[in-house]
Amino acid sequence: MAVETRIIQPDQLEEAVTLLKQGECVAFPTETVYGLGANALDAKAVAGIFAAKGRPADNPLIVHIYSLDQVMDLVGDYHPLANTLMERFWPGPLSLVLPKSHRIPDIVSAGLDTVAIRMPDHDLALELLQRANLPVAAPSANISGSPSPTRAEHVLQDLNGRIPLIVDGGPTGWGVESTVLDCTCLPFRILRPGGVTVEQLQQVAEIAVDPSVFHNGVVEKPRSPGMKYKHYAPKAEVVLVLGDRIQEKINLLAHSPEFAGRKLGVLAASEHLEAYSGLTVFDMGPELEPKIAASRLYNLLRTVDQQGLDVVFVEGFTENEIGMALMNRLRKAAGNRVIQS
Ligand code: TXA
Ligand code: MG
Repeated sequence: MAVETRIIQPDQLEEAVTLLKQGECVAFPTETVYGLGANALDAKAVAGIFAAKGRPADNPLIVHIYSLDQVMDLVGDYHPLANTLMERFWPGPLSLVLPKSHRIPDIVSAGLDTVAIRMPDHDLALELLQRANLPVAAPSANISGSPSPTRAEHVLQDLNGRIPLIVDGGPTGWGVESTVLDCTCLPFRILRPGGVTVEQLQQVAEIAVDPSVFHNGVVEKPRSPGMKYKHYAPKAEVVLVLGDRIQEKINLLAHSPEFAGRKLGVLAASEHLEAYSGLTVFDMGPELEPKIAASRLYNLLRTVDQQGLDVVFVEGFTENEIGMALMNRLRKAAGNRVIQS
């Protein structure tokens, strides 16, 4: 049955607190993307998240907390190095996969014996978590498979009529989801790159990067179940172009018979906006600032769909620091359409 979806402002946060305590789902901003939260200790409440998103039941959720004191209750014995990471990077865009305690319902962990936990670095999110005084399970607040929401209006586009409330905190900062780090193996292993970078983590601990991070599109048996699904993709076909002659290659492709008669766009670095003809050009920000590109990516992918484009070419960025997260999302969105110039 359809519900009325209301958008509230930060000064109306009490309504969100009340709904969370009543076992309802609420969308709220974090420093990465908007999340769709529910009481992580209430299996029925969490089932509402899966229903609203159309999320496959084998894809586990991240549990959000506001205080280190909450961790003990949620996890079993874990490697002490994880404490160092919590102290150094929380609040922040780092989700730690730890052995779960019996208090975490199976639906949250999708039947795994581990649970991902993070403390978001966002005042509204922290206030909501603190006032509800609950651990809150929250995936990104989009329909399963589509780009994560970085604005309240994106949540509304996807989940209108499916959830009762969205807390509007304006555009999110990072624009890509948190780093997911498996702390149940040694060395600890990055399952999904995000705002906290490999370079930063390596200053504190030895860190491995799961090979699935560098694969295109769908991975059959990933360690992070979510990675086997098509992700972050708009309706338009995404074609990612890498190498030294990206602009030349995209112009060639755009005028080739394969793309004739289709509405084409390109996500390009600011320096290259003039390099294209016959395509709708979108500005990803300066070439050497992947942080800006990451913060714009999901909004641009949604804009591409709103403008009814059939195909969007995307310029590849360098893979260091936040560029690893940006390129990981672009590879997943592009599936097997990754072309070397
Ligand atoms: O930034 C974020 O992490 C956002 C905000 C809302 O906090 N949340 C988010 O959640 O991106 P979601 O559900 O869209 O992505 C969670 C990812 C999935 O790829 C999932 O498979 C993985 O984390 N994950 C969750 N629990 C896991 C576990 N126990 N073991 C391995 N991977 C896990
Ligand atoms: Mg997601």
